[in-house]
Amino acid sequence: SRSRHYRIAVIPGDGIGKEVVPEGLRALEAVSKRFGCTFAFDQFAFASCDYFLEHGVMMPDDWKDQIGGHDAIFFGAVGWPESVPDHVSLWGSLIQFRREFDQYVNLRPVKLMPGVPSPLAGREPGDIDFYVVRENTEGEYSSIGGRIFPGTEREVVVQETVMTRVGVDRILKFAFELAQRREKKHLTSATKSNGIAITMPYWDERVEDMARAYPDVRWDKYHIDILTAHFVQHPDWFDVVVASNLFGDILSDLGPACAGTIGIAPAANINPERDFPSLFEPVHGSAPDIAGQGIANPVGQIWSAALMLDHLGERQAASAIVAAIETVLAQPRLRTRDLGGPLGTVDCGAAIAQALLEAR
Ligand code: NAI
Ligand code: MG
Repeated sequence: SRSRHYRIAVIPGDGIGKEVVPEGLRALEAVSKRFGCTFAFDQFAFASCDYFLEHGVMMPDDWKDQIGGHDAIFFGAVGWPESVPDHVSLWGSLIQFRREFDQYVNLRPVKLMPGVPSPLAGREPGDIDFYVVRENTEGEYSSIGGRIFPGTEREVVVQETVMTRVGVDRILKFAFELAQRREKKHLTSATKSNGIAITMPYWDERVEDMARAYPDVRWDKYHIDILTAHFVQHPDWFDVVVASNLFGDILSDLGPACAGTIGIAPAANINPERDFPSLFEPVHGSAPDIAGQGIANPVGQIWSAALMLDHLGERQAASAIVAAIETVLAQPRLRTRDLGGPLGTVDCGAAIAQALLEAR
């Protein structure tokens, strides 16, 4: 049978990354006790601004060998703008992981949790529960194009959208498979084939074609403009939403914003073929304004551990983490300060680990 031992590359990074990552590991240790899977956590100090200040680079030359063989990367946050410019720290680490490890799926759950005020009036936990699946390697974010006659009246600027059959089909396949595993089995595709009249009709064509392989998944599509309105007015309509790089970028910020605060949102950067490790991280950054105070909300990091377990095939354990987060957030006295509660990072993390163990 399949091995249930997992080697995890742990990269805390900077700022509150170093405070919330240990709480993610605490939840994973509780999972190990309850569900029997085991973890080896290998800590790496690179991909941080401290490492940069000491070595002049964000990562060692052999970083790919050091973490490429792990089952997953558990990442905190990178960035310390006071000492290293953000484009240097981000491009020297996180962007390298995403590209070199072909993590072409960016996955974000959008779920309204108890105790988290939604900016959408009248919405309760249960009303909002879907995923945004963003294509992360091609589409609108290409480097094909240029500027000619710069600074003159004849100035011309062009940037091409690139959609490849391989690139479009693989993200659609991931999204349809995710939809198939969910109760509602419903997929929504973001398009704009009325305006972007070459690449987007192609995207639609590939969706229609892919859908034939998943007859049990109900699917629909909306133009991106009205789709953003529906996210706000009818978040209960959605289950799995798949989108190109640009549209997915917008939806994957809008969705979680409709479901609450930056402190709790998780993200996964996935290589579904498992040729390379996938990366799991909170959506938030290193929060220099609160770093070192022990008050950061650990939920985003802990929820990203649930996404990691799901990817590793530990589905029951993944659901248990999400349930433990819900149990804790439902109690005002167990929330962190950003949610109006009294607890610090460690106590909130410990409460979630405790809830995991008590639920058995
Ligand atoms: P940020 O997400 O670090 O902080 C934005 C605001 O949200 C701050 O007021 C912060 O205190 C608050 N916040 C964030 N996470 C929180 C948590 N867990 N609990 C309570 N409050 C929380 O974004 P910002 O300030 O734009 O960027 C700071 C640094 O992080 C920069 O160097 C930036 O490049 C980097 N960054 C890194 C990311 C990553 O590693 N994936 C993502 C976003 C930013
Ligand atoms: Mg974005």
